[in-house]
Amino acid sequence: MIDGFGRRIEYLRVSVTDKCNLRCVYCMPEQGLEWLRKDELLSYEEIVRIIATMAPLGLRRVRITGGEPLVRRDLPDLARMITAVPGIDDLSLSTNAVLLDEHADALRAAGVRRVNISLDSLRPDRIDAISRRPGSAPRIMAGLDAAERVGFDPIKVNVVLMRGSNDDEIADFAELTRERPWHVRFIELMPTGSNLDLSRDAFISCTEALGRLRAIGEIEPAAGPGGNGPATYYRFPGAPGTVGVITPMSHNYCERCNRMRLTASGQLRPCLFGHIETNLRDPLRRGEDLVPLIAETLRIKPERHWLVQGSDVGSGGLVALSQTGG
Ligand code: 5AD
Ligand code: SF4
Repeated sequence: MIDGFGRRIEYLRVSVTDKCNLRCVYCMPEQGLEWLRKDELLSYEEIVRIIATMAPLGLRRVRITGGEPLVRRDLPDLARMITAVPGIDDLSLSTNAVLLDEHADALRAAGVRRVNISLDSLRPDRIDAISRRPGSAPRIMAGLDAAERVGFDPIKVNVVLMRGSNDDEIADFAELTRERPWHVRFIELMPTGSNLDLSRDAFISCTEALGRLRAIGEIEPAAGPGGNGPATYYRFPGAPGTVGVITPMSHNYCERCNRMRLTASGQLRPCLFGHIETNLRDPLRRGEDLVPLIAETLRIKPERHWLVQGSDVGSGGLVALSQTGG
């Protein structure tokens, strides 16, 4: 699959639910969103039919996202079905880890090889405040332990930086990579409809974060865990883990984009942001051929996102990243 700008697309992020068991301040409003109805959601069989249609076109890697994917029942069943599709050679999961402890073994056995875990603080009181679901910190920590125990590799830890709420932990997160083989990635806060004030007032660029890291010790460019994602990696000499930065706001990496997204309701989105999406669900349910729709979506994949600090003009009406799988 080659898009209109010559980029090779071989990676699909599949959102399996728009729901979440947390309410992270930069993501969802406290009261939640208007959830999709069950009949609007793709079934596991439908998700796998779409993946099996894309595999012969060049799809190689799939990531399961949400919302929080582990709130959907029997997720290991979906993992098993996806890894059985010929041509798909890599399956990963993005999770907030609250439910990971109880599902890690089954997911690993079903073929999930690696995980990205969202963790915005190392302090339980702050995890409570940021996620607005008090008491989740011990479960998240148990989830991280479980990820190591079952051998997910690599383990990436995503930290959304916010001034005044977790920016004083940049060094603590980085220090973790001296002890553990984790890849800690600092992410710049992106504006969506529900976080405009926060994304303007609490924004910190990754350039600033790297400056603070250099103040605590020498860091050198590193290869990172692979996967061709948007992150740029560094490491402390000799450290088992790496520190990465993901800079959607300060440096655009869209020219290397390798992905599309499938929302929980079956919309194929060629870009995280922007208005373009193609309804695959209804044609699939009518028994139509999806290949022309996929080809056309690929052809009109935007060159880049047009996010603007403090504004939702570039987000294409997106209220929260949970709606598209991040
Ligand atoms: N800006 C930056 N990162 C975000 N995430 C969710 N919403 C935002 C936002 N507005 C992160 C989550 C998760 C990843 C999928 O995206 O924390 O780690
Ligand atoms: Fe849930 Fe992830 Fe959004 Fe937090 S960022 S509310 S964990 S979907």
